[in-house]
Amino acid sequence: MMLNDHAFSVAPMMDWTDRHCRYFHRRMTARARLYTEMVVADAAIHGDRNMLMGSDPSEGPVALQLGGAEPGKLAEAARIGEGFGYDEINLNVGCPSDRVQSGTFGACLMRTPELVAECVAAMARAASVPITVKCRIGVDDQDPEESLFSLVDNCAAAGVETFIVHARKAWLQGLSPKQNRDVPPLDYGLVKRLKEERPRLRVILNGGLKTVEEAKSHLGAVDGAMLGRAAYQTPRLLLDVDREIFGDEGPARRIEEIVVEMEAYIRRVSSDGVRPHHVLRHMQGLAHGLPGARAWRRMLTEKGAATDVGALARAHASLRAAIEAASSTAAALDERLVAAC
Ligand SMILES: Cc1cc2nc3c(=O)[nH]c(=O)nc-3n(C[C@H](O)[C@H](O)[C@H](O)COP(=O)(O)O)c2cc1C
Repeated sequence: MMLNDHAFSVAPMMDWTDRHCRYFHRRMTARARLYTEMVVADAAIHGDRNMLMGSDPSEGPVALQLGGAEPGKLAEAARIGEGFGYDEINLNVGCPSDRVQSGTFGACLMRTPELVAECVAAMARAASVPITVKCRIGVDDQDPEESLFSLVDNCAAAGVETFIVHARKAWLQGLSPKQNRDVPPLDYGLVKRLKEERPRLRVILNGGLKTVEEAKSHLGAVDGAMLGRAAYQTPRLLLDVDREIFGDEGPARRIEEIVVEMEAYIRRVSSDGVRPHHVLRHMQGLAHGLPGARAWRRMLTEKGAATDVGALARAHASLRAAIEAASSTAAALDERLVAAC
């Protein structure tokens, strides 16, 4: 298996992969590459930079994703992003939301590969960290065989070596962004062919992957797997990444250790005015599949938890009790559940 630092990553997701979410994910995996939410180039230049691009030093390796279609602005945004310590700057060529379409960037850029090449070339001149591209296989009536290879070849000629491919088209008319993540069919075969035909490039497969095992099954045919929704909604899967994907030794971290660290984090950021809710909302899925998961979710999301730094410890005590009760009543319950907690 190829072990590169893109072998496993968590996708950029607006409103989800903010700094608190990344801090949480990093407690579970030291090796997975994490991505920020998309930051629009104009906002990076003119907006509140600390709010948009600030991160915790222990989050790395993290890539900053930028959105835009103007080489000059993207170059400036990349320069600013590098200054914030990101390890990689990624250009979004795959997002189909209305806001993104009206700005003629995101997935629409699949139609203008030469412009994308100009953008990444300008970014590469402005920043010394690697510039990467996240794209679809095509949009609307494009022939993916042509649109994907054309985008990749143009960008590769401009110096890009790493491509993350969400293995489905975006249909820009008639589908919501959410539908565009499920309805157009996946074509993993095409992404694997891209790797086969462009072996010197690093090709990362994204779209529809649900488990670490599934991600691992594609390594070899591609250089890495990126998980989005599954990593966010069932974050415990991240506990297996360092061993299963990167071959690290040692036991997986336990939920208890993560809870203790997150509690300390919540106390720390609370003193800077961050409400516990802004951190806890990303942790709802941590108990997914365990006895007591429903109570865990409720305790993290109920009104009082929004401002209560002790909510997490109470939810964890309740989760442990539910797991212990279930294991003493059901002999068949997997012992690993108890050990995990
Ligand atoms: C809530 C949400 C927000 C997203 N925001 C972005 C984004 O800002 N930039 C981007 O490139 N993709 C974005 N995506 C797409 C994901 O990065 C990913 O490509 C997509 O969800 C497919 O992967 P998955 O099936 O593993 O979730 C978003 C997806 C979700 C669910």
